Amino acid sequence: MGKMAMARQAATVARSGEILHITIEPLESRDMKPLTDPAQLGFGRIFTDRMFTMRYSKGSGWGDARIERYRSFSFDPAACVFHYGQEVFEGLKAYVSEDGRILMFRPEQNARRMIRSAERMCLPPAPEEVFLKALEKLVLLEKRWIPRVPGTSLYIRPTLIGTQGVLGVHPSEEALFYIILSPSGAYFKGGFMPVSLLVEDTYVRAVPGGVGEAKTGGNYAASLLAGERAQEKGFSQVLWLDGRERKYVEEVGSMNIVFCFGKKLVTPALNGSILPGITRASVLELARRLGYEAEERRIAIDEVIAGAADGSLTEAFGTGTAAVISPVGSLFYKGKNYTIGGDKVGPVTQELFDRLTAIQYGRAKDEFGWVREIGRV
Ligand SMILES: Cc1ncc(COP(=O)(O)O)c(C=O)c1O
Repeated sequence: MGKMAMARQAATVARSGEILHITIEPLESRDMKPLTDPAQLGFGRIFTDRMFTMRYSKGSGWGDARIERYRSFSFDPAACVFHYGQEVFEGLKAYVSEDGRILMFRPEQNARRMIRSAERMCLPPAPEEVFLKALEKLVLLEKRWIPRVPGTSLYIRPTLIGTQGVLGVHPSEEALFYIILSPSGAYFKGGFMPVSLLVEDTYVRAVPGGVGEAKTGGNYAASLLAGERAQEKGFSQVLWLDGRERKYVEEVGSMNIVFCFGKKLVTPALNGSILPGITRASVLELARRLGYEAEERRIAIDEVIAGAADGSLTEAFGTGTAAVISPVGSLFYKGKNYTIGGDKVGPVTQELFDRLTAIQYGRAKDEFGWVREIGRV
């Protein structure tokens, strides 16, 4: 099915109201899991009691939307996702404010990015309004799971996979969209600490014309080996360079990257091989509002290294849903270590982190209209 036809079909089904009806399977309180102590949460290991599921088939479009008990799936061993990696996903968070409001940060941006990722991977996208409604309903039903200790949140993982059980490289004619929830601990348990990055000049994550800007599992599988080797050497993540010349900075393992030359912020422009991060876009908008200059352009690793060596590069940080902002204290490139800003958290990084998290947790006025209040605890 062509892109337009796929979107049309999805839109038609959404308009009919059919898939906006979500069947909610009853769940007895005796079948609910005990909550985990927020201090023991970590990331991505504990899942809530329920999940959202919705199925697609070429003939009938999307349907059978339900919120059911979190459980294993059963698929044909020939399912497309297992053989040809037809999969896309998203990651976002729900927070509880001090006064008990349940907040989500720019979920419509995740819905739209998932549609773009799905189109690139020839999967039928779930319409934005369906994505948002499913998310809200599920999070509200599972609200007891949203941790309330500062820095904690409920991580939300919408996923879309091709499930047709036929071998042969072709777009799946059946798909499953599901959402699972995982309470997550504070990212910076030991305080807001700078990380060290290894500039990767052998392996690449993505190439021009490839799938780098789609949030698809294969990009992460492709990144594992370099990430493992970097961690064995004591670095927290790799900083990827461009796939053609290994000359220009792209992004970090699961974050976009921003360099600060005093009050001027520079980040690689979206070029098709970088994931268009929602935190990245928010940080750029916030920084501009605060009076910083923020440039999106091609940036050579040589320029970054020269800046670190002569001190004009004063700070660097990664941006992503997990950490929000993660200070970068050093870069290791071609056998040499370069410290940035004395390996300390700089004032620009701190200000942007404080301001953005204050908006996300509902402590500061949201001048941008980013925060969506979906209910109360
Ligand atoms: C490869 C990659 N780049 C960047 C990001 C940051 O994106 P966002 O700010 O939307 O979480 C992520 C995290 O989702 C990622 O996996």
